[in-house]
Amino acid sequence: MSLTFSKLSYGNLVVGVDTPVQLRNGKKERGINFDNAATTPPLVSVIEEIRNFAPFYSSIHRGAGYKAKISSDKYEEARITVMGFVGADTRKDVVVFVKNATEAINKVAYRFAQETEYINSETKQGKEKVVVLSTSMEHHSNDLPWRGKYEVDYIEVDECGRLQFDDFVEKLEKYKGRVKLVTVAGASNVTGYINPVHRIAEWAHKYGAKILVDGSQLIPHTPFDMKPAASSKHIDFLVFSAHKMYAPFGIGVLIGPMDFFAKGSPDYAGGGTVKAVTHDRVIWSEPPSKDEAGTPNLMGVVALAAAIKTLSTIGMRNIDKHEKALARQLIQGLKNIDCVEMYCTEDEGQERVGIVPFNMKAVPHEKLAEILSGEAGIAVRSGCFCAHPYVQKLMNVHQDKIRNVMENPQEPKPGMVRASFGLYNEHKEVDQLLEVLHEIAKDRRRYLKMYE
Ligand code: ALA
Repeated sequence: MSLTFSKLSYGNLVVGVDTPVQLRNGKKERGINFDNAATTPPLVSVIEEIRNFAPFYSSIHRGAGYKAKISSDKYEEARITVMGFVGADTRKDVVVFVKNATEAINKVAYRFAQETEYINSETKQGKEKVVVLSTSMEHHSNDLPWRGKYEVDYIEVDECGRLQFDDFVEKLEKYKGRVKLVTVAGASNVTGYINPVHRIAEWAHKYGAKILVDGSQLIPHTPFDMKPAASSKHIDFLVFSAHKMYAPFGIGVLIGPMDFFAKGSPDYAGGGTVKAVTHDRVIWSEPPSKDEAGTPNLMGVVALAAAIKTLSTIGMRNIDKHEKALARQLIQGLKNIDCVEMYCTEDEGQERVGIVPFNMKAVPHEKLAEILSGEAGIAVRSGCFCAHPYVQKLMNVHQDKIRNVMENPQEPKPGMVRASFGLYNEHKEVDQLLEVLHEIAKDRRRYLKMYE
C-alpha cells in the first residue's frame, strides 16, 4: 500500500470523510465528524487489508489446512505488532485479544479477584478488604467492573477536572498495604486530560500495587510506551479498543503480565482455552489462549494490525501534534463566543488529547448537538459520556439535582457537548464549527424554536 498524504491532510487515508449527510432542510452536504472519542471510521488501508486477506481467511489454531496455517500466523504476528506499538515487554507481557477495552477491564477485575482471594478470605476473619484505587474522572467501564469485588476508592479531581496527585499519595498512605491495584484513564474521554501514568506507576509500585491504564482515549492519539517490566514506571496492564483507532471490527486489546494470566481460571471458558479435559478435571491452556474462548475474531485482529501499521507510518507524534493544534484552534475560537461555557481551558500546563467539552447558555446540550447536525452536518456527542460523576463535578451540579437525576433517570440530565478530533479532521472543519456556533449564539431562540 502506498501512503499519499500531505503533512496536515490525512483525509484520503480514511473511509467516508467526504460522504454527504442530510441536513434538516433535506439538502445533503459533506459531513464533519467530531465524534472520534466515541468511535472512528475505518482507514482505507484497513479495508484494503481485509479485502486482501479475505481469500485466505480460515479457522485459526484448529485447522490443518494451508489457509488455517496462514490465518494462525497472521493472528499471532498481530500480537507482536501490538506489543511493538505500545512498548510492551515481550519477555514478560502477553497480549489477549478481547472485544473492547470494557471487556478487557472486566476480565482483569474478575481475575484479580482470584489473585487477591486469599486476602479477601482473611476479611471474613475480621481483616480488611483489598482496595482498588480508581479515579473520579473515569469512564464507567473503569469504575463499575471493580465495584462489589473490592473496596473501591476514587482519587479526587480538582474543580477543573485534573487528577490530584497529592490525593493519590494520601490514599496510598491511608490504605497502606491494602491497595493492590491503581486503575486510571490514560486520557479522559470528557476533558481529554492526559494523566501522568508513569509517575502514578512509580508510586503504585512503591506501595506494592499494580497499575492498569485505560488507554482507550490515549493510544489512538499519542505515542505510548509501557516500559520494561523491570522499570518502576512499567505499566502492568494496558487496555484499548480498535474501534477508536480506525479498525472498527469488534476487537480490543488487553496487555498484562504472563504470570498473572497463567494463574486462576478464565471468566469465559470453552473451546480453545484448554489443554485437556475430563468430566471432572480441566487443564487450562497457557496464556493468552486460556483467555480467548471460542473462535477468535481474526478479521478484527487483521484490521487492528493494519491500522497500527498505518498509524505508525504516519507517526504518532505527527498525529498528536495535528490533533492538539485542532483542539487549540477550537478552544481559542470558543472563547470568542460570549455565551459559550467552557471547562477550565486556561490551564496551558495540563496536557490533553484533542477533546473539547463545552456548552452554550440557554441551549440544552442535546439540542445544541441536534442543531449542529441539522444545520451543518457536524456530528458531536452530547450528554455525560458514560462518566456521570466526572461531568457532575465539572458542571458543579448541586447534590439535590443529582438526587433528582437518580430518582428520575429517564429525565434529561445535565451534560455537555463534546467535540473530539481524529487524525483526518481539518482546520477548515473547526472553522465551520465555530462559524455555525456563532450563528446559533446570535439567534438562540429562533434555533430552539426550529428544533422544538
Ligand atoms: N466511551 C465512548 C465515548 O466517550 C463511547 O463516547
